[in-house]
Amino acid sequence: MRVLVTGHLGYIGPHLVELLLKDGHFVTGVDLNLFEDSVIYPHAAASDSRVMDLFDLTPNDLRGYDAVMHLAAISNDAMGILNPQLTWKVNYEGTIHVADCAKRAGVPRFLLSSSCSVYGKSDDKPIPESGKLAPLSAYAETKVKSEETLGQMADANFTPVFLRNATAYGSSPRLRLDLVLNNLIGSAYSTGVIKIMTDGTPWRPLIHCRDIARAFVYFLNAPRDAIHNQAFNVGSVSETYQVRQVAEAVKHLMPDCNLSFADGATADPRDYKVDFAKLNKAFPDFKLSYDLAAGARELHDHFYRYKLPNDCLTGDRFIRLKTLKRKLTEHQVPAYFQLATNP
Ligand SMILES: NC(=O)c1ccc[n+]([C@@H]2O[C@H](COP(=O)([O-])OP(=O)(O)OC[C@H]3O[C@@H](n4cnc5c(N)ncnc54)[C@H](O)[C@@H]3O)[C@@H](O)[C@H]2O)c1
Repeated sequence: MRVLVTGHLGYIGPHLVELLLKDGHFVTGVDLNLFEDSVIYPHAAASDSRVMDLFDLTPNDLRGYDAVMHLAAISNDAMGILNPQLTWKVNYEGTIHVADCAKRAGVPRFLLSSSCSVYGKSDDKPIPESGKLAPLSAYAETKVKSEETLGQMADANFTPVFLRNATAYGSSPRLRLDLVLNNLIGSAYSTGVIKIMTDGTPWRPLIHCRDIARAFVYFLNAPRDAIHNQAFNVGSVSETYQVRQVAEAVKHLMPDCNLSFADGATADPRDYKVDFAKLNKAFPDFKLSYDLAAGARELHDHFYRYKLPNDCLTGDRFIRLKTLKRKLTEHQVPAYFQLATNP
């Protein structure tokens, strides 16, 4: 098949490109390459890798493709707080622009990388896809609104699908250290202290970034009727943790490092358990290939094998917000990125 992946130079993207190439697909990647300094080890190149803004795509670019996997985004809450307008522009308008081009070009399938953060906060009961959406950030709001508008675009020839991914962790050729597990290992590695930024109580479903990529491949191959215009939570009940349990997993790997809470650490309002029964029913043979312990072990190994610098947390290579701030200051981004930025 011919597959166009936006965001192929992000954290999840390189795993996805590798898996698609392994299955024999022709993969076109479209990405601004905002995080080019985050590479820690080489990765497979897309069949056709284009460093470009997704707003420059036209229907002509998408003709002849079997599916679009849309991952490009301003992809976390922190960047959304810095610049909510930019998050709305890229994540909502950008998504609809790419989907509109895909639909006009006759691409039958559009897989959106959405997020479990659309649920915001739950009581103790895991939330299914039909549950209440309560986005707590601009980032999460853009995912809700994108799903809604894409849903209205669905028809006999255009199948949008929404993969509501759990919070990612784990090693990638293009590493990020602004995700909970990765950050805690980075903290232990660079300072000797496993520093928790909240009170450690919030619940969060986690998933290895490579398992998110594997899920996209499943949805590429799934029968249309099983997924047409539907949302799926992507993760596993058994991989749902409190932040302090994640910290304890790091302590297990790095027993000489002490746990500590950041000054003024408070409860994180983003606190949810998610129900993954729909995914299990639709794809009974899809099992996560990592659990937290295995993913933490591998990432810990990679810190040493790829000799991550001691300033991995204080520098801007692996922290998206810091990279974005630098690029805004240096005008290394498209002009529309300079929309109002919160101080
Ligand atoms: N990492 C997670 O925990 C997680 C969880 C759930 C969902 N998601 C979603 O999965 C997707 C991929 O996540 P990721 O962690 O790989 O993100 P990432 O930030 O590492 O990568 C996003 C990529 O999008 C590119 N991009 C941004 N704006 C662009 C534009 N205007 N034109 C072209 N490219 C642009 C960036 O250069 C970057 O390479 C995102 O949509 C994210 O919201 C991520």
